[in-house]
Amino acid sequence: SAAAAPAPDTERVEVFGHRGASGYRPEHTLASYELAARMGADYIEPDLVPTKDGALVARHENEIGGTTDVAEHPEFASRKATKVIDGTEMTGWFTEDFTLAELKTLRAKERIPDVRQHNTVYDGLFEVPTFQEVLDLRERLSKELGREIGVAPETKHPSYFRKIGHPLEPGVVEALDADGLNERGAKVVVQSFEVGNLKELREQLRVELVQLISNSGAPQDFIEAGDPRTYADLVTPEGLKEIATYADVIGPDNQVILPVDESDHLTGPTAVVADAHAAGLKVVPYTVRAENTFLPADFRSSQDPAQWGDVLGYFHALYDQGVDGVFSD
Ligand code: G3P
Ligand code: CA
Repeated sequence: SAAAAPAPDTERVEVFGHRGASGYRPEHTLASYELAARMGADYIEPDLVPTKDGALVARHENEIGGTTDVAEHPEFASRKATKVIDGTEMTGWFTEDFTLAELKTLRAKERIPDVRQHNTVYDGLFEVPTFQEVLDLRERLSKELGREIGVAPETKHPSYFRKIGHPLEPGVVEALDADGLNERGAKVVVQSFEVGNLKELREQLRVELVQLISNSGAPQDFIEAGDPRTYADLVTPEGLKEIATYADVIGPDNQVILPVDESDHLTGPTAVVADAHAAGLKVVPYTVRAENTFLPADFRSSQDPAQWGDVLGYFHALYDQGVDGVFSD
């Protein structure tokens, strides 16, 4: 009989707690990051957006209607606004229109309460954390757990925030400098979807940089500069060699590695992991999570959340491709 395939080396693959342990606690709260570290994550992942008075806070979006209780605060009703951010019209409340002190009066809550009902137990308990608070937590947990917890901040919408006078880069560099983390070999990786943002950070940061790669569209700064290249152009062998001139890692959508057809079935791996490795880049795809809607049909055993165990099969399918890490909820 045929020999069994060797088991993937799961110890080698680094786990990035995506928005913390966001499958178990409301995303981007200190409780979510702390649980990720205690569950064994190698890195915690804060997305960063600015406040009106120049602080950086951890939110996936600058629009906070869905992840805080801001709508329940009558004193902020007049702050509701409609804005176009990276080509998408959004209505709600935006971090750049609040001081840090004002944001601290809000409470973070679960973004998808219908899906993650267990997380709603924790709604209303947590503040919106600053980047500095995430770094302080990282330091405390590293001491307590006896291993270094890494941090993987992502700059969100950097072109947009630069245009409105709230550039993200200075705050990221200052915070890492102040904590002695802006060093080659520090367990810090800074991520962005925008090429220009990473090239600017490369001038100021000695830590590893991650070029995030969506499975459709193009970097926002390319769109605004009239550069016709898309994310698909970035993952050709030539595109990957170019990325290696300013970044150390690619963070592709899972489907860049394991694409699916219209019926959501896998169509087989691409050459991207091998080509990235040949260019000297590590590969850390996003995002492995249990919710059925985010898993290819081949890994969905059931619509019953109790049966979401096939997510482990999906981890292994990615590990089999030789990825160096995974972002997971
Ligand atoms: O940073 C990897 C991944 O987080 C990118 O997707 O939208 O969850 O920030 P997003
Ligand atoms: Ca992110």
